[in-house]
Amino acid sequence: MTECNHINAGRRGVLIAGALSATAVAVPSVAGAAGAVNTATQAGVSPPPVLMQVSFDVNGRRHSLELDTRTSLLDALREHLQLTGTKKGCDHGQCGACTVMLDGQRINACLTLAVMHDGARVTTIEGLGTPDKLHPMQAAFIAHDGFQCGYCTPGQICSAVAALAELRQGIPSHVSTDLNAAPQATPEELRERMSGNICRCGAYSNIIEAITEVAGRPA
Ligand code: FES
Ligand code: FES
Repeated sequence: MTECNHINAGRRGVLIAGALSATAVAVPSVAGAAGAVNTATQAGVSPPPVLMQVSFDVNGRRHSLELDTRTSLLDALREHLQLTGTKKGCDHGQCGACTVMLDGQRINACLTLAVMHDGARVTTIEGLGTPDKLHPMQAAFIAHDGFQCGYCTPGQICSAVAALAELRQGIPSHVSTDLNAAPQATPEELRERMSGNICRCGAYSNIIEAITEVAGRPA
């Protein structure tokens, strides 16, 4: 090593040591965790997951799970509770295949962490109806051929059920012309309210017919 290199290496060591000690003084509570992560990373292994207990009601049944805090609600449902009716399409909020109802409101289950919903009430497609006793929206999708491959269908149906509830509550949408009047289940309103649910098979017109029938309007 040349003298110049030796001096640079020494200066680098002093700077690194200074930075580390400053960090440890400034945030002592995270210094240990950061050190563990650094050690794990340097050793080429992933840091251990942070686990947390969460309990929620899914389709009328109470479940308590110990989950990695990074687990999405979608993965909790599919991978931990084996409720695979809820589908994973994009896994980042663009397709609506993962739509479920959380405390009565629809949500993309891929975009929310399970541990955020301790005590919540979740309804998935499995909780809406059964093959022997279909929910009216499920029956209407069948009657109107509202699907082809069926991959988007659980999300479409959960979204449609919640969309009609929003209409009944008088919640306006982007296309509602009169914000003081009760919104109606017109094709334009339904298309807007269902615009977060993508169907790669293009069954849109039949989906709107099915929802229109359940809304009590002539399809
Ligand atoms: S899987 Fe959640 S929006 Fe696509
Ligand atoms: S029915 Fe195939 S994606 Fe919608």
